[in-house]
Amino acid sequence: MDSLEDLLAAHSPGHALPQGFYLREDVFARDVDLLLNRWTCVGHVSELPRPGDWITAELGVESAIIVHGDDGDLRAVANVCRHRGSRICVATRGSAAVLVCPYHAWSYHLDGRLRAAREMPAGFDPSAHHLKSLPLREIGGLIFISFGVDPPDLNLAEPALAAFGARYAWPHAKIAHRASYTVAANWKLALENYHECYHCAPAHPEFSVLHALSRPGARTLVTGPRVDARYTDCEDWGPTSNGREVVRVMRSALSEGCESGSADGQSVAPVMGPSDGHCVFAELGFLSAFLAYRDYGVIYRFIPRGVLNTEIEVIWLVAADAVEGQDYELARLIWLWDITSVADKRIIETNQAGVRSRHYTPGPFSLMEPGTRDYVERYVQELKARYEL
Ligand code: FES
Ligand SMILES: [Fe+2]
Repeated sequence: MDSLEDLLAAHSPGHALPQGFYLREDVFARDVDLLLNRWTCVGHVSELPRPGDWITAELGVESAIIVHGDDGDLRAVANVCRHRGSRICVATRGSAAVLVCPYHAWSYHLDGRLRAAREMPAGFDPSAHHLKSLPLREIGGLIFISFGVDPPDLNLAEPALAAFGARYAWPHAKIAHRASYTVAANWKLALENYHECYHCAPAHPEFSVLHALSRPGARTLVTGPRVDARYTDCEDWGPTSNGREVVRVMRSALSEGCESGSADGQSVAPVMGPSDGHCVFAELGFLSAFLAYRDYGVIYRFIPRGVLNTEIEVIWLVAADAVEGQDYELARLIWLWDITSVADKRIIETNQAGVRSRHYTPGPFSLMEPGTRDYVERYVQELKARYEL
């Protein structure tokens, strides 16, 4: 088997990756290690409105608890008991006055401090057994954490995403719906697919009539950091991130006469942001993407579960005071991004099936795939930097 170094040497810039990147367990293990040290979106602030509310988030073998403290702050802690290591919260969400380990009932305050441990010997120091805290940032109504202790800085990303969130009132949104699409493919094929609209015309006729992005020339390759303060557009997408987390906020035109991503192009929920004939795509790090229309928002969470198993969680946001059945119909709200995600699952899995073949050779990117080209080059460069290859 080729070494990772050989595999990297076999990659030709401007082309898809060699087969091993999409199939090998050892590459996947390194991918997860890379991803654990980055920022990833775990949800929206409206999921944790009261002290004691918690959610969990997973990546690779890691699990984190995100909890609303008694002091009103959100915190993230490793979901690993300081006694003998059991996971503490096993559900995806809940509410509790204290966090209690299900194994031997050690209990923790909402800020992660050990509260009680039964029958411990003399000299046991509770203060040395608090839950390990993880970096957390709340930006524009979104919650980001890192599973690593020293993630990249957010100096450019934070103001860009905060402005994006403010423009569409995301800090005051609520979740209308969430759905998971389990894709039998490597996470990189899922993200490569997300970053280009070359496939939109053949695979997404519904999306394509609504968005200019599906047409040639709508998007060009950007090199170096770029900030357009007029629209809060910002692009710092690599290939190298120089210690900064990568970010993109990209305003994109809707088709003539359209104001939202819906069956007839008209709004399907109460207004959240400007009606200027555009939507805005945003991203942070490797695994988190966002899309804002004037009347609803979408969070995309890409979760690598295994070398050939990726979960795509899609979360729909509406204005906090919008009432289902009165202000919006759920079926109309989720129509576009459900139908699009189902189609993406199909084409990504079909892509993976072909990539497994002995006849697979990485082919060149088209002029309509600059985002995927950038994504792949950044991945390659960051892998090289992390492993000094
Ligand atoms: S492992 Fe948690 S109390 Fe024992
Ligand atoms: Fe797609």
